[in-house]
Amino acid sequence: MTDARLYHDLAQYWPLISEPEEYAEAAGIIRATLREKLGDGPRALLDLGVGGGHLLSHLTADFDAAGVDLSAEMLAQSRALNPTVEHHIGDMRSIRLDRKFDAVLIHDAILYLLSEADLRSTLQTAKAHLRPGGVLIMCPDWFREYFPDGFVSHRTRRRGDTSLTYIEYVYDPDPADTTVQTIMFFVIRDGGEVRVEQDTHTLGVFEKQTWLALTEEAGFTVETRPYVKADYGQMVTMIVGVRDSSL
Ligand SMILES: C[S@@+](CC[C@H](N)C(=O)[O-])C[C@H]1O[C@@H](n2cnc3c(N)ncnc32)[C@H](O)[C@@H]1O
Repeated sequence: MTDARLYHDLAQYWPLISEPEEYAEAAGIIRATLREKLGDGPRALLDLGVGGGHLLSHLTADFDAAGVDLSAEMLAQSRALNPTVEHHIGDMRSIRLDRKFDAVLIHDAILYLLSEADLRSTLQTAKAHLRPGGVLIMCPDWFREYFPDGFVSHRTRRRGDTSLTYIEYVYDPDPADTTVQTIMFFVIRDGGEVRVEQDTHTLGVFEKQTWLALTEEAGFTVETRPYVKADYGQMVTMIVGVRDSSL
């Protein structure tokens, strides 16, 4: 999903849509899980779909990190926030860096995988960048079993002379397929001027069993953990895979 306005001409508003502080709880759970699996000491982490690097900003003190994203505008924001991180433009379904990591993280960007073929190719990317025994963490906002069809969220944030009201509606036009839609409205007030922008994103939705089966099939020993409470009230699930040593 490369043409999403949010990640291109509207990317400058990302810090008003989702502030880095909002990711502290999620980052704490991810850090604790990685420490439990990998032990203490310096570790290398690859964030696929790093976006503005808001979540990653909570992990750079503990991990030697690299980030990948499709959007040059989002990468520029992450570079500014995370100057010690190595950034690469690329697609998580196909990118190959000449480097192995102790951990691969795919946070909310995982929602942009729309088919089982997308999941399979991204799992191969994760495996290709992990040493044996390395850990993969994936954080989908929903499974098919608890997709919040028709949920509306909204927020208003201000920075200097700019205020942004962001309204998001998620729905599933066809429960028989693996995609859902979000419609986003941005009411942007810059000084005296108010304008409204709109964006639509197609996101993926899969059953829990599909995630687990495809992760195992790719060569991971998989488990799930409670993660954080979503805006729509559900405690969502984190998928943790350990790359099999025999592969
Ligand atoms: C919600 S944003 C990520 C925000 C990020 N978690 C943060 O803390 O700032 C989703 C990102 O996924 C990226 N993305 C979507 N599909 C991708 C793909 N196939 N490969 C790499 N990045 C992708 C988008 O460009 C966007 O920057």
